[in-house]
Amino acid sequence: MLERDSIKVLEIALAKMGEGFENIENFKEESLYDEILPIIMQVAEKMQDNYPYFHPGYAGQMLKPPHPIARAAYMLAMWINPNNHALDGGKASSAMEKEVVCEISENIACWKDSLGHLTSGGTMANLEALWISGETGKGKKILASETAHYTHQRISSVLKLNFEKVVANTKGVMDLDYLEDQLKLGNVGTVVATLGATGTGAADELKEIINLKFQYGFRVHVDAAYGGYFKLVDNLREDTKENFDFIEYSDSIVIDPHKHGLQPYGCGCVIFKEANAGKYYKHESPYTYFTSSDLHLGEISLECSRAGASAVALWATHKLFPPIKGGRFAKELEKCRNAALSFSERIKASGKFNLLLEPELDIVTWFPKGDSVKEISSKSKYIFDAMEKENIYLAMMSYPVRLIDYDFTNTEINSENMTVLRSVMMKPEHIDYEEKIFKLLNSII
Ligand SMILES: Cc1ncc(COP(=O)(O)O)c(C=O)c1O
Repeated sequence: MLERDSIKVLEIALAKMGEGFENIENFKEESLYDEILPIIMQVAEKMQDNYPYFHPGYAGQMLKPPHPIARAAYMLAMWINPNNHALDGGKASSAMEKEVVCEISENIACWKDSLGHLTSGGTMANLEALWISGETGKGKKILASETAHYTHQRISSVLKLNFEKVVANTKGVMDLDYLEDQLKLGNVGTVVATLGATGTGAADELKEIINLKFQYGFRVHVDAAYGGYFKLVDNLREDTKENFDFIEYSDSIVIDPHKHGLQPYGCGCVIFKEANAGKYYKHESPYTYFTSSDLHLGEISLECSRAGASAVALWATHKLFPPIKGGRFAKELEKCRNAALSFSERIKASGKFNLLLEPELDIVTWFPKGDSVKEISSKSKYIFDAMEKENIYLAMMSYPVRLIDYDFTNTEINSENMTVLRSVMMKPEHIDYEEKIFKLLNSII
């Protein structure tokens, strides 16, 4: 069940990479085969205690293994272990990083002369973006929807920035009237617009937020850690597409290759539209930047050591799956969205369940019918457990009842929050599996 071709590829590629170092004196590396094997066998056994993220029956959180090409390229790089802080630590992999970040910038944000780099993940990438927000608008507020990722508030507290939540509406996105009231009060430095909320996949109305930016003057940071790659697909709803089309008018964006970009963890990406954001990163590091006068990525990132292997894996992945509209990668992503659409149609037609929201990307959220909010929550938990017993893995989410667009006339509201079910259909294979998941769901309640 677990893919192994990447190991065969790796053997051949490892020999090729070794050829590049044949002119240096050989030295003997101790073989620890006999000692390593039993320990790695223990690791293999321990790792069995995981959900099968690689299988389409896992339709829970945003989790899946990297693509085999990313796995092979990352592992290959591990024999060198480059560090993309400085050219001294990662000469080849730094060049690869600059290339892939440019590709993401041009194809998703439509920015040509931007400045960006990979990060260890979405949180670090957002931290860098909000740090620049704080530097450019000292003392000003950061606003984000109450449905935005929880880390924005935490990052703001780490950076000692004044953060405020914007209330959301029944579409699961920031309420624009509320936002405008806040803007009228003044002193707003940055509005964080989420394209693809973690819980529901809903996209903030970026088009309107950009209009407000031109009226009131503030920075817009787009958190597209999850949703960014959907800019490339052809099957978004018209309103969602329009919001993605306004990314280019924002000031910074975060997109995580380790979510929908087929990469192993440790790969986020932050990009600033204006390259002059680089001036805030200026620092002295006399012991790292001496091998070249070319740009060292550590000069434009907050983290010091970063895995060069992440850039290598993403570079190889872009060769097979260029991040372009109409390309092979986009077609695979369209399957994820189609799986979500098809599953949500079944939910709507079932008579037993309700959609929480029409999916905007590939995340489906729904709940069973019930006489009260508490009953619905306990039914959701029952379904979650019962499905797991059948090797189908869903996720749950606690959602404010006031944000749910549902006729509660015959449902007692006896709790402020409702537990709903959630499926991230982020594997193209979900297109052939979602019917099976639905049939099982339908049979257990
Ligand atoms: C929209 C959004 N922003 C930020 C993050 C945080 O990213 P990471 O977990 O890579 O730090 C997530 C994670 O799910 C996310 O969905």
